[in-house]
Amino acid sequence: MTKTSKNPETVKYNFDEIVSRWGTESVKWDMCERGVLPMWVADMDFKAAPAIREALQKRLDHGIFGYELVPDDYFTVQDEWFSSRHGWSGLTRETVLPTTGVIAAYSAAIKAMTVPGDKVIVFTPCYNAFFPAIRNNKCVQLDCPLHYENGLWSIDWADFEAKASEARVLLFCNPHNPVGRVWTRSELERVGEICLRNNVFVVSDEIHCELTFPGHDYTPWATLPSEMVEASVTCYSPTKPFNIAGIQIANIYAADAEVFKKMDRAINDNECCDVNVFGVTALKAAYGASGEWLDELRAYLYENARTVYCFLEDELPQVVASPLEGTYLMWLDFSRLFQVKEGLSEALGEFLEHDCGLKLSVGTIYGPVGEGFMRLNIACPRSVLLEGLQRLVAGIRFLLKPHGCCHHGDGEGGHCCHHGEGEEHECCHGHGEGHGEGCCHGEGHGDGEHCCHHGDGEEHECCHHGDGEEHECGHHGSGSREMQAPEN
Ligand SMILES: Cc1ncc(COP(=O)(O)O)c(C=O)c1O
Repeated sequence: MTKTSKNPETVKYNFDEIVSRWGTESVKWDMCERGVLPMWVADMDFKAAPAIREALQKRLDHGIFGYELVPDDYFTVQDEWFSSRHGWSGLTRETVLPTTGVIAAYSAAIKAMTVPGDKVIVFTPCYNAFFPAIRNNKCVQLDCPLHYENGLWSIDWADFEAKASEARVLLFCNPHNPVGRVWTRSELERVGEICLRNNVFVVSDEIHCELTFPGHDYTPWATLPSEMVEASVTCYSPTKPFNIAGIQIANIYAADAEVFKKMDRAINDNECCDVNVFGVTALKAAYGASGEWLDELRAYLYENARTVYCFLEDELPQVVASPLEGTYLMWLDFSRLFQVKEGLSEALGEFLEHDCGLKLSVGTIYGPVGEGFMRLNIACPRSVLLEGLQRLVAGIRFLLKPHGCCHHGDGEGGHCCHHGEGEEHECCHGHGEGHGEGCCHGEGHGDGEHCCHHGDGEEHECCHHGDGEEHECGHHGSGSREMQAPEN
């Protein structure tokens, strides 16, 4: 990345740079129709830190990619990083097991610590790939829904305490995807005490641990009292914070020697104990030489989060964004706008993607308690974020018009995001059967051009054309404020 004078808060790295990802086999981008702005899958639209790219280039230039040992400095670089940044030391070859990914890591941990039929607790809504890992290990998922009040999420202690007595493992997430909580030390200790008392083993997924915001420091599970650490493993990776998820490298930390042996056995049984040469190279360059880049990234993401709060406050105050303490995934609550019933998030997701050119993650993939919520990935240049927010506002304003309704094109108007007054309205359908009047649709998908909609039913000049360049765009959010909170 190049130096920039545009943005005073990023002094060295240019996170405003738009890098086209279309046609790169990106899951996030290329699984969407051309022209849809993808703000779903959890990776970032920023180039990796220069030190990582340089190290990978050097390794590539060697030209031979045979089997390799994991070198000592793979461990020392992590120990230095975590002890200096997070007060967590003791990461050595005797405590850290390299593996291919964090999903592989926690799946192996479940396998190691359970027998078929054992119950595994998750705090829902939670990362959707927790569910298959529990199922695939023939265990039973035990949901402990998080408590939600006024946009804030916390653990329902009574429910957790009751369920812990039945469970064998807690599959924990810190920072928590998707609600964005960074659990405090006292919350962690309370979780740890309940687990110890009930003989529940803790598998802590800390993949998002570097992505925290002012006032919300990350506390590694591994820094809790030793009896809690011994009855746990931590699964972590540099892939999220350094945007190298496709390289696939992760670690399992086990302080207890017996637990370590079990984990070693499990990753061997699952054949995920060998890591690739680029993973090792990238991890060393990330933890060893990319701290400054990470700090600037965090500042940029923090500003992105503030942009979302301000934008929503001005344009769509009924949408509640939970305070983002960590991760770059914002959890948006639409329940003040639409009556919450089964299918709402799904219908909103379809409408936003197919009619508004914006793909968010549907709340219910994180558990039934995600009904009425959507997850927004804000890890992109700010201009792209603003474009996404404008599409969101335009789409929601359309739905709030008396005739606005999103349904599935099934002619029935089922799964309607209606207005809480029990009526269905004329549809804004963009499902191939022609566009409804005043429709906020995503025409031009086919040719890679996407328009930004202004909530006024008209199309205007466009910001992004799918070519990675920015173009003139005259007016955003110019539609009149005509929203009304439904009574529900
Ligand atoms: C909480 C959490 N764990 C694990 C993963 C995936 O990890 P990996 O790609 O290393 O398997 C993600 C990706 O979004 C995640 O959010």
